[in-house]
Amino acid sequence: MKLIPLILVVLLAVSCNYMGSSQGINPYHYSSVKRITVKHGAIATANPLASEIGAMILKRGGNAVDAAIAAQFALAVVYPAAGNIGGGGFMVIHLNDGKNTAIDFREEAPGKATRDMYLDKNGNADPQLSRNGDLSVGVPGTVAGIFLAHKEYGRLPMKELIQPAIDLAEKGYAITATEARWLNGSQSDFKKYNTVMPVFVNPGRWHAGDTLIQKDLARTLELIRDKGESGFYEGETAQKIIAEMQRGNGIITLLDLKNYRAKERKPAIFDYKGYTVETMPLPSSGGVVLQQMLGMLQNYPVDQYGFESVKSVQLMTEIERRAYADRAQYLGDPDFVKVPVKELVSESYLKQRMADYNPDRATPSDSIGAGAVPSESEETTHLSVVDDSGNAVSVTYTLNNLYGSQVVVGHAGFFLNDEMDDFSAKPGDPNMFGLLGTEANSIAPGKRMLSSMTPTIVLKDNKPYLVLGTPGGATIITSVFQTVVDILDFKMDINDAVNKPKFHEQWNPDVVYIEKGFPDSVKRAMVKMGYTFQERGSIGRAEVIKITKDSIEAVADDRGDDSADGY
Ligand code: DON
Repeated sequence: MKLIPLILVVLLAVSCNYMGSSQGINPYHYSSVKRITVKHGAIATANPLASEIGAMILKRGGNAVDAAIAAQFALAVVYPAAGNIGGGGFMVIHLNDGKNTAIDFREEAPGKATRDMYLDKNGNADPQLSRNGDLSVGVPGTVAGIFLAHKEYGRLPMKELIQPAIDLAEKGYAITATEARWLNGSQSDFKKYNTVMPVFVNPGRWHAGDTLIQKDLARTLELIRDKGESGFYEGETAQKIIAEMQRGNGIITLLDLKNYRAKERKPAIFDYKGYTVETMPLPSSGGVVLQQMLGMLQNYPVDQYGFESVKSVQLMTEIERRAYADRAQYLGDPDFVKVPVKELVSESYLKQRMADYNPDRATPSDSIGAGAVPSESEETTHLSVVDDSGNAVSVTYTLNNLYGSQVVVGHAGFFLNDEMDDFSAKPGDPNMFGLLGTEANSIAPGKRMLSSMTPTIVLKDNKPYLVLGTPGGATIITSVFQTVVDILDFKMDINDAVNKPKFHEQWNPDVVYIEKGFPDSVKRAMVKMGYTFQERGSIGRAEVIKITKDSIEAVADDRGDDSADGY
């Protein structure tokens, strides 16, 4: 077990079990556990407190869905940059009776949204409008998603799952160094986009170990605890959201909130070299694009090429390019547009897609289809859970980028997303991740914006073998792709598969993004073949659990405060 201590200044003297609902969890003093091997159940999330709470629920007899829900609520408190109740996401579930299912709680465009709502008077997309402030907000889905998952598949009472989050909000917890840095970096945005100053605004500077108390958020969570889903979508909380919209020129109405529904969907399921991959279908592009990439790859002996060999990196780069070009062209909300999914993932199409692949040279992106740079300030969050009875849950949810729209609902204490930027505001104009889109992903009332989130479960003999996923905007799908290939093809240990440097090509711009540590020799060889490289910050923050006959191994990404727990 590798322990990475967070440097926390303990401001309050506390007893270890001051929270009745979370015995043994000390919110003022905790550290990340990067890797565990356990027997019964495990969880990995972006924050140690959320993982501890998830593990506590597992130990109390909660199933994987219960633990995921408790962790999602906890992350909404201890990880305000991305954990949320004001955003949305996707949950992929495998049940021990063999059922595979998926919950879509993606945000929706408000009823008053229009196709051209982010265009300025010259007809150009204005990224300020779709990325910050109340107009950038999609109708939040997280609370509806949690309740749908719980109603269908949960075991413990909801009150027990939400209470630890309420306690953390009410009594406070010590923030990590990363959270302090992010909060400090966002102060001017918070002031600019909020009319009611939230607790996140600090006249001084945030430091690791400072106690963050969120009374308004605690009240909102209590309403959800006591009134269920309608404690969020109706009544006091809904009124506060609408008042916020009115102060900030947003367009979400009471009816938008009341009408929001999470949707249960059939997951994308396909075979890869004898394993069954279960992942998120549209409106996330994750499933289609991952299936395309693994489908193209399986025609090549990539295991023989080896990890980080010029041959494997070049081949996977070309595969990524082609799949992302299709993403831009064809993918959108299937309840609004017809998407030729079957064709896009068919064996013959994928073979033909690689017909112009040249192992000695880069295929220029504009010979495949048309460019921008992904933003650095991104954040989403993923959690992976397995329980004692063989259930597995993979959840990725988000506010979009760091702290979403920057808007905290006045007197309700939670950040709202800026997910509207994931629509294609105008064909040919990239979103914040440099992703392009067409009519398929244009804005319409009630439509869900295309996502890249790829919560995934890999099954072996119809039992969970890997539970994985990651944040990272456009890079999510390539990170999941590479993690799967690293484990299944290169037989890599899951810790290495999570932490080794990733590379990312998304068709446009025609650049291969690489993380620090990517081998220079591979880069030099590929530059000679016509590739352009650009080093960027982290690519993904994956949480991977591997289940074998004898044990459960969970790994939390070294790139952040991520932590694994279990028993
Ligand atoms: O749904 C999507 O694809 C994006 N809104 C995800 C954003 C994201 O992953 C940001 N973070 N790391």
